[in-house]
Amino acid sequence: MAQYDVIVIGAGPGGYVAAIRCAQLGLKTACVESRDTLGGTCLNVGCIPSKALLHASHQLHEAEHNFAKMGLKGKSPSVDWKQMLSYKDEVVAGNTKGIEFLFKKNKIDWIKGRASIPATGKVQVGDDIHDAKNIIVATGSEASSIPGVKIDEKVVVSSTGALELPKIPKKLVVIGAGVIGLELGSVYKRLGSEVTVVEFLDQITPGMDAEVQRTFQRILKKQGLDFIMGAAVQKVDATKTKAKVTYKLRKDDSEATLDADVVLVATGRKPYTDGLGLEALGVEISPRGQIKTDDHWQTSVKGIYAIGDVIDGPMLAHKAEDEGMACAEVVAGKAGHVNYGVIPGVIYTAPEIATVGKTEEQLKQEGVAYKAGKFSFMGNARAKAVFQGEGFVKLLADAETDRVLGCHIIGPGAGDLIHEICVAMEFGASAEDVALTCHAHPTFSEAVREAALACGDGAIHA
Ligand code: FAD
Ligand code: NAI
Repeated sequence: MAQYDVIVIGAGPGGYVAAIRCAQLGLKTACVESRDTLGGTCLNVGCIPSKALLHASHQLHEAEHNFAKMGLKGKSPSVDWKQMLSYKDEVVAGNTKGIEFLFKKNKIDWIKGRASIPATGKVQVGDDIHDAKNIIVATGSEASSIPGVKIDEKVVVSSTGALELPKIPKKLVVIGAGVIGLELGSVYKRLGSEVTVVEFLDQITPGMDAEVQRTFQRILKKQGLDFIMGAAVQKVDATKTKAKVTYKLRKDDSEATLDADVVLVATGRKPYTDGLGLEALGVEISPRGQIKTDDHWQTSVKGIYAIGDVIDGPMLAHKAEDEGMACAEVVAGKAGHVNYGVIPGVIYTAPEIATVGKTEEQLKQEGVAYKAGKFSFMGNARAKAVFQGEGFVKLLADAETDRVLGCHIIGPGAGDLIHEICVAMEFGASAEDVALTCHAHPTFSEAVREAALACGDGAIHA
């Protein structure tokens, strides 16, 4: 069998990026992937298909709610669900084939099948054992359910089943008001489902800036999503076509039920390491199932590295990609680095949510003196022109040094706007640096500048 400098296991955003960078750095590289297509969870059943459905359903919302206001009259489009699913599948195929092209271009061998690691320096796929000086494990994550809830991917679905339902459900119950629940809940709400979100905690999107959480939930309620907060789901009884969700309110232990055509279980994801044989090799795993690594992504066994969802940190495609690049550089004997303090998080609802760095709650807890500059999109001409004046930019800066510490945006284009602040934070910029940078008019990005101005002498359009 061939001898490789590196074999990467898993071709998601972590694995395929690591493989490409290894090959670019002159290492003989192979990548093992058991799916029929490259790209992992993200391209096949995650980021990409969900964004295609968010885009299509958002266009419908625009047609139904805003077209007439702009003088675009006539019947609003009707939903051809089969066609929408094939549009989504085409988007996915275009992207996964793109990775195949990149593998060929960079002379990376795609070894098809499931990998295990029988010994250090060996990767087994089927009956073949390949030699590798270095192994990078990038096997990702899978949906994790809760006790009493069995996912059948038909009536009780994870995000994977929710991306290919045979029809649009009349009643959808979503368990978990996290990123998946709110993105896919929004899709089905816009397509006409009655959507009820049952959340264990008293606020949605745990860990986010509290003001963003409150504004976001208010906007989602206005869009027609129902929320049952502080409710622990006890069980889901499902037949072939219907389900009943039983939950208990935490405040008084009272029990109630909800009927649904489909139940989406969106209560988090867990690292996936099945069948790799890591325990036998002595690779340390945390109690939460994550592979433990040092600061250079090396596991407790020399020559075996791990990156992406399978290790600690936010389960995000771009975090996996950054680790993929940095780990490849370490394997090639260079310095690889990821700044975990500047990893943005985005929720692709309408409006979008984007966040980077510290929240006010974290800064208070850490005893850091800070100032907050806030600017509403109601003061932004471009946002108002496109009926997206709801939301705000909140910039947090050190009270003494003015250094940018975090930014939290709810509003149009938030997922793109946040990167100006990511760059500012990487350069150790002050709020004044952002405020003194000329921003084109009329753009949504002026709201970021105004928030920066509000950290100093004041915003102009507030
Ligand atoms: P994965 O993408 O999970 O890839 C791992 C690959 O390894 C898989 O293809 C698997 O088949 C393969 N594999 C596993 N074991 C083996 C084995 N033994 N042998 C061979 N192959 C194996 N993140 C974002 O940043 N933005 C988003 O908008 C976003 N949207 C999402 C929407 C949904 C519905 C979901 C579920 C997730 C979303 N995510 C998003 C999260 C994102 O998909 C993950 O963070 C990302 O895919 C992690 O990349 P990874 O390379 O670590 O693993
Ligand atoms: P999540 O961790 O974002 O949210 C899970 C939610 O379920 C939490 O609010 C939690 O309190 C709630 N919950 C847990 N147990 C419950 C119970 N018994 N009853 C009711 N509620 C319960 O997880 P989610 O949404 O499944 O997403 C998984 C991962 O995928 C996330 O880590 C995220 O990073 C990633 N992802 C990222 C996206 C993006 O970047 N736009 C999009 C989709 C997923």
